[in-house]
Amino acid sequence: MAEERGGLFPRVRLRRLRRPGIRDLVRETRPAASDFIYPLFVDATTDTPRPVESMPGVSRLPVEAAVREAGAALEDGVRAFLLFGVPDRKDERGSASWAEDGIVQRAVRRLREEFPDAVLITDVCLCEYTSHGHCGLIEGDRVLNDPTLELLARQAVSHAQAGAQIVAPSDMMDGRVGAIRGALDREGLEDVAILSYAAKYASTFYGPFRDAADSSPGFGDRRGYQMDPANGDEALREVALDVAEGADLVMIKPALGYLDVVYRVKETFGLPTVAYSVSGEYAMIRAATERGWIDGSAAMWEAAVAIRRAGADLVVTYAARELARRARAEGRGAPA
Ligand code: PBG
Repeated sequence: MAEERGGLFPRVRLRRLRRPGIRDLVRETRPAASDFIYPLFVDATTDTPRPVESMPGVSRLPVEAAVREAGAALEDGVRAFLLFGVPDRKDERGSASWAEDGIVQRAVRRLREEFPDAVLITDVCLCEYTSHGHCGLIEGDRVLNDPTLELLARQAVSHAQAGAQIVAPSDMMDGRVGAIRGALDREGLEDVAILSYAAKYASTFYGPFRDAADSSPGFGDRRGYQMDPANGDEALREVALDVAEGADLVMIKPALGYLDVVYRVKETFGLPTVAYSVSGEYAMIRAATERGWIDGSAAMWEAAVAIRRAGADLVVTYAARELARRARAEGRGAPA
């Protein structure tokens, strides 16, 4: 019979390993709590948490509330945080981004003091700090590349001096990793690592973030510096350049629509690879959950497992706390 059908069935039956208990034993991808990086929005314009409407469960936080939230996340098993700042003043050059008493600098100092073992990563970009909302200096309607580099480097140095162990440039100017590496080294900050948003696409899925960070461009869009979602090969060039300039870890962003890029980057470079599951990915799952259309916590977990399976070592996600709790509860022996 089997021979007649020409297949391996019935000798081979993959369902044998899908039985209760065994299914769990042979599971390939097992996210750990410490795989999840938790973004925090620290806000200089408020002294109470301000919920972000398009991101249920996420708030902009004054520094002390951010310290409390980080403490709770550490209890859940989260180890690393990615800080974004909402400043109380904006100007053409984004000068609040490198101020010693800037919102991110203050938050980093407080978090470092309170939680010496936490890993603090800071987003380095100008868009939250510029009056025009672009990620670089502008001249007319052009976003200038080279003059922006010095400002990004200044911001990165000031985050590192406040106590960030990793700086994460998200602006997509050419040459910024090298400029930041050089500036850090000149300041004696050679141990501070760079996580470059190497393959960052011009994505519609950043919409809710721009509400949270108040960082929408005042004119035009970001297509002159962020990548075309249609391009995969170009991502490898971006990563290669950033690695040559000194990136220690690389990021792909967004995550879910770009798992092929995550896979190729991990396969090609073998570097610590981070995927950013962005605000729109989070908002879609939360919105469908609120309508009763999807099981939200199962969907968040499945998305995270898929991102890890594709090759990401670490995942930036707004659901980091619940995912870390779930990762702890899973472990071998837990029913699947
Ligand atoms: C720019 C930055 C953005 C995000 C992270 N860093 C927005 C943008 O490029 O417009 C998006 C993150 C998200 O959507 O969750 N500083």
